[in-house]
Amino acid sequence: MSRASLAKDPREVAGMFDAVARRYDLTNDVMSLWQVRMWRAVTRATVAARPGMRVLDLAAGTGTSSVDYAADGAQVVACDLSAGMVAEGRRRHPEIEFVVGDATALPFPDADFDVVTVSYGLRNVQDTAAALAEMARVTRPGGRLVIAEFSTPVHAAFRRLYRFYLGTALPAAGRLVSSNADAYGYLGESILAWPDQEALAALIQDAGWRGVGYKNLSGGIVAIHRATKPGIPADAAAPTAPEA
Ligand SMILES: C[S@@+](CC[C@H](N)C(=O)[O-])C[C@H]1O[C@@H](n2cnc3c(N)ncnc32)[C@H](O)[C@@H]1O
Repeated sequence: MSRASLAKDPREVAGMFDAVARRYDLTNDVMSLWQVRMWRAVTRATVAARPGMRVLDLAAGTGTSSVDYAADGAQVVACDLSAGMVAEGRRRHPEIEFVVGDATALPFPDADFDVVTVSYGLRNVQDTAAALAEMARVTRPGGRLVIAEFSTPVHAAFRRLYRFYLGTALPAAGRLVSSNADAYGYLGESILAWPDQEALAALIQDAGWRGVGYKNLSGGIVAIHRATKPGIPADAAAPTAPEA
């Protein structure tokens, strides 16, 4: 199986990523002209992982972002649907806890994490609303959501050029550098079909998150959405002993 269709059948999506796991990060660097490193740095600052925090890096792939959160002191769980990506992640980063799991049926209890984050993964999940609701379920009240995803360039002329790149130039370049060129046809199509910044913000809000906001990077090629799980923070909810 070389690529998934826009129906995003989980078996097809997992199979497509299984096939590209070994060269995934290198290809990302080349195809984004190394912009992905700046996008990851902004995501890392937005996640703001700290010692004592429990962070879920969902659709974590080979764990490239998970490593940043662990380096910042958090206890990180890297979860991904693709057994191939997880195997490659475990090989590269044996210090990180990897779990095979589906974003729409997460293998974690309620309120298990302080921050749930997903980089370039939500677009690949068949049911976006179900994944956003699952992410809310496993986040503690007062905890945070950070989503890095391809989005829609803000300026019209740049948007037209970018759409040409996604539909024509990207698949052609993918044939040169990737072990699975067809995956780049899927990449372009899935970005073109993905909700823009405001539409994704509305989906996040509809899933029960609050304080939804976003920041555009590289003119809107990427947007970092953030939100908070409503409710009383777990710390504040703990009963306090009466003063003597
Ligand atoms: C483009 S990669 C991103 C990987 C990583 N987050 C990064 O920043 O490099 C998308 C990842 O989403 C994963 N994925 C797709 N559908 C998923 C689902 N339903 N649940 C969990 N992971 C999923 C894929 O297996 C793949 O590893």
